[in-house]
Amino acid sequence: MERFFSQRARDVRRSVLRELLKFTQRPEIISFAGGTPDPGTFPWEELADIAAREIREDYARALQYSTTEGDTGLREELLKVVRADGIEAELDEIVITTASQQGLDLIARTLLDPGDVVYVELPTYLGAIQAFRAVGARLVGIPLEEDGMDLDALRERIAADKARGERAKFIYVIPDFQNPAGVRWSEGKRRELLGIAAEEDLLVVEDAPYRALRFAGGPIPSLKALDREDRVIFLFTLSKILAPGLRIAALIGSEGIVDKIVAMKQAADLCTPALTQALAREFLRRHDLEAHMEKIRACYREKRDRMLAALGRYMPGGVRWTEPEGGLFLWVTLPEGVDTERMFPKALERKVAYVIGAPFFVDGSGRNTMRLSFAIATPEEIEEGIRRLAEVVKEELAALSAPAQL
Ligand SMILES: Cc1ncc(COP(=O)(O)O)c(C=O)c1O
Repeated sequence: MERFFSQRARDVRRSVLRELLKFTQRPEIISFAGGTPDPGTFPWEELADIAAREIREDYARALQYSTTEGDTGLREELLKVVRADGIEAELDEIVITTASQQGLDLIARTLLDPGDVVYVELPTYLGAIQAFRAVGARLVGIPLEEDGMDLDALRERIAADKARGERAKFIYVIPDFQNPAGVRWSEGKRRELLGIAAEEDLLVVEDAPYRALRFAGGPIPSLKALDREDRVIFLFTLSKILAPGLRIAALIGSEGIVDKIVAMKQAADLCTPALTQALAREFLRRHDLEAHMEKIRACYREKRDRMLAALGRYMPGGVRWTEPEGGLFLWVTLPEGVDTERMFPKALERKVAYVIGAPFFVDGSGRNTMRLSFAIATPEEIEEGIRRLAEVVKEELAALSAPAQL
């Protein structure tokens, strides 16, 4: 069989996480593992009405191929949404993608050759790691601090790479309520990153699926809104604010980049489904997105508060976690020596699940970390699940500090 696979397919691996996630779906397990939004936030009644109407009254369009760039009406609606967030963009600078994962894949195939360097946060989004590695890119991790990437470390790394004759293509970042760490970049670091990109002639890929899910803290402009040089490629998905099943997102960049991305997309899928584009377009035309998002924010704010309170109540000393002001995740760092992958079966025995941290680190570190999603579990389950998890952590710490048996 092996001889039939391309070199690329030989190198590609199924993610460890997908394998571990299989165990977390049993109903008796309280899972903080999934990365999915709460289905209670999906506007299913509105979408059901729109679907019925679009298919009955506009089937010739809704069930037809779309253009590769995407439905013009939807692109106009999405431009209104991002313009309200400070992003100046025109119709030829936006392409609809089959959600942002396709955006990442198209960026990888449009910009990267095997061996090309990409700077990413440590930790970063697993789907981006997979998309970039699939085309043979070399990912260089730069530590993430409480207010964004360690930009001194980035500068040093760029200088060292340049000294070896290596020049990166882009920096990939998730500046708002990052997956996995829940961190939000300060405005100062955003401006500084754009400065570095300009000095070093690099592009920036800004992935912003959680940007609209801010439930605490004041507004901070996106990199794309601050970008005066057309260096930023902005990925904006409806997965976390409407529904991931639509598979609708927009990629916004300079006309030159968008043009190439469209050509690449043609080979990938010709177009994003016209039907789900119509659902998204009509939802945005007929409903108040901001009012809908307020409901979602309230839901996640309550769950985050519950998780933070439970962590404070039950976790032993030495355990640290982030306090995200938005998004779906918080990030837990256990004392050195704890291995969250080794601990995972013990958590499952106690009927609680999390995501191990190491796969999010492109340098193989982070074995003592884990990601907890507060999106899916109910507030009561969050309380009980964190209590169980804290028991597992305490046992693990006790086992580590016990003298070795003779
Ligand atoms: C940082 C980040 N980027 C991209 C995606 C992909 O989202 P989608 O393909 O549903 O738009 C996700 C999904 O969890 C994510 O967390």
